[in-house]
Amino acid sequence: MKILKTVKEVKEEVKSWKEQGLQIGLVPTMGWLHEGHLSLIKNARENNDRVAVSIFVNPMQFGPDEDFDSYPRDLERDAKLCEEAGVDLIFAPQPEEMYPNGFCSYVDMNGLTGGLCGKSRPIHFRGVQTVVNKLFNIVTPDNAYFGEKDTQQLAVIKRMVLDLNMNVKICGCPIIREEDGLAKSSRNSYLSPEERALAPIINKAMTAGKEMIIKGERDSAKVIKAISDIILSVGVTKIDYVSIVDSLTLEPVEKIESDILCACAVYMGTSARLIDNFSLEIKG
Ligand code: PAF
Repeated sequence: MKILKTVKEVKEEVKSWKEQGLQIGLVPTMGWLHEGHLSLIKNARENNDRVAVSIFVNPMQFGPDEDFDSYPRDLERDAKLCEEAGVDLIFAPQPEEMYPNGFCSYVDMNGLTGGLCGKSRPIHFRGVQTVVNKLFNIVTPDNAYFGEKDTQQLAVIKRMVLDLNMNVKICGCPIIREEDGLAKSSRNSYLSPEERALAPIINKAMTAGKEMIIKGERDSAKVIKAISDIILSVGVTKIDYVSIVDSLTLEPVEKIESDILCACAVYMGTSARLIDNFSLEIKG
């Protein structure tokens, strides 16, 4: 496995893969890998000749008061996990490599990014789209793998690829959970033992909301209130949002009449903002 830090080196490596007619899978990450990432890598490994993983904590997708500085980083640990998972190449650039002096081009969109996480993180998706676009241009993958936990991110990237005629297939992979239901996330490492003990309430509340809809509840407000009440009942003090949106447009729906996405972001303590979601197909 190669660990490369410059765009030039990656382009050279990828060029030799392309010359051999090999199919490339890319797993973009910000490192501090967990089983969620490893499931993306496994999927990429099974379906491509070569697997590249990018490890880059992208400053452009963090707001000024967010956790860019404290985001966990350990390239040695991540490299070991990648090696064991059969990765061929890690691309681990420094910010100056991705955003050299004079950098001033961005990728952005007008729809899909205004609600859900985009409401409290207004510059986030512009940063994600820009860096993912750059990674696609550098690695030129045939397939790229993203987790369904970041479901809005997945929708945004799929839309960007469609709108901009990009030659890459976007593969979404299911949420991987801890035994107690908490969605795996690099940010779980911020949780104190007490917060960690409370955190599974997010999935419990979401599951209860899902059950309400499956049993026939069609009023979004009632489902959102039930989910919020369960989360707040254990002493969590700040919910960023619980929303039910149309699964294609990501616009809020009052009545649940077609396929929906229910998503939430919850602050556990002062430092961790955790997200979770479920999708439901609604039959006529
Ligand atoms: O999901 C992430 O870890 C990041 O948003 C991504 C896609 C690697 C872009 O920085």
